[in-house]
Amino acid sequence: MSRQEADGRGGSGLSGGVAKADLSYSETDGKGRGVLCRRRIVRILITGAGQGLGCHIAAAALARGNKVLAAVHSLPRVSEEMQGLQGRYREKIEVFEMDVSDEESVRKARKMLQGQGKALDGIVNNAAIMVEREKTIEDLDLSAMRSSFEVNTIGPMRVVQQFLPMLYRGNKQVIVNISSEAGTIINAFATNYPYSMSKTALNMFSERLREHLREKDIRVYAVHPGWMRTNMGGVDAPADPRDIAAGIVDILERKKKIYSKIAFIDSTGRPMPL
Ligand SMILES: NC(=O)c1ccc[n+]([C@@H]2O[C@H](COP(=O)([O-])OP(=O)(O)OC[C@H]3O[C@@H](n4cnc5c(N)ncnc54)[C@H](OP(=O)(O)O)[C@@H]3O)[C@@H](O)[C@H]2O)c1
Repeated sequence: MSRQEADGRGGSGLSGGVAKADLSYSETDGKGRGVLCRRRIVRILITGAGQGLGCHIAAAALARGNKVLAAVHSLPRVSEEMQGLQGRYREKIEVFEMDVSDEESVRKARKMLQGQGKALDGIVNNAAIMVEREKTIEDLDLSAMRSSFEVNTIGPMRVVQQFLPMLYRGNKQVIVNISSEAGTIINAFATNYPYSMSKTALNMFSERLREHLREKDIRVYAVHPGWMRTNMGGVDAPADPRDIAAGIVDILERKKKIYSKIAFIDSTGRPMPL
């Protein structure tokens, strides 16, 4: 029996109501031998998945047999890596445009996916911008505050608002809002107002959402991924986004024991300072 048959879902396999949590299939062990495992296939929506960390989270999730709804900012701009994932995992990935700062765009994507009867087990709010980073208050263009909050804070709120009904139909659900230590108040420095303040607000949203969804056993985290080598992080960053992506997929698969009293954690599950 194939995984899709076992799953009771055909085609892209992302559709269906409540998924069967555990499936049997063979994987290879560390020595390349086939072993029979029981594992859960997790259906994950990732924003800003066209490149950078979002694309690496998609790659890590797919490599473990999970299914990905990859929301990209612009289809013509997706990275070669994302194009490769589309070719390699045709049955397990769906790639579509969604601008998280645009209410109509998010609504349209949700309607399209909900119309296909899709359910979700995880949402990764990854899309973000960092603008006017070096500006002090004297020189700061305040319109950058609005655009940053639109993408980095209201974007995740908009996505959660639209996609919660699909998440309610899933299993062992997890919401990961990708945050940043830039949002940590005790480490604040004299610039980077739009990005840092939008991430502090994202942390508060995550905390409140976590309270809201606690009784439904839907987990909510704001995850600081670390300084990574992406377009945003630059080439000098110490962390490989592939390593960070693996930690985030562990969180989505509920593989990590997380003891944090707050939603704001790093990608290994340790609490971050507020
Ligand atoms: N890199 C780091 O060192 C670092 C450190 C701490 C936290 N983070 C966080 O990690 C996450 C991923 O960052 P990254 O390093 O991968 O950054 P990145 O390379 O700049 O990627 C950001 C992604 O977000 C997309 N995006 C931007 N505006 C969007 C919008 N309005 N709607 C939909 N998608 C949009 C981008 O698409 P386009 O390129 O097509 O616009 C891109 O795919 C972000 O939340 C960031 O704040 C990164």
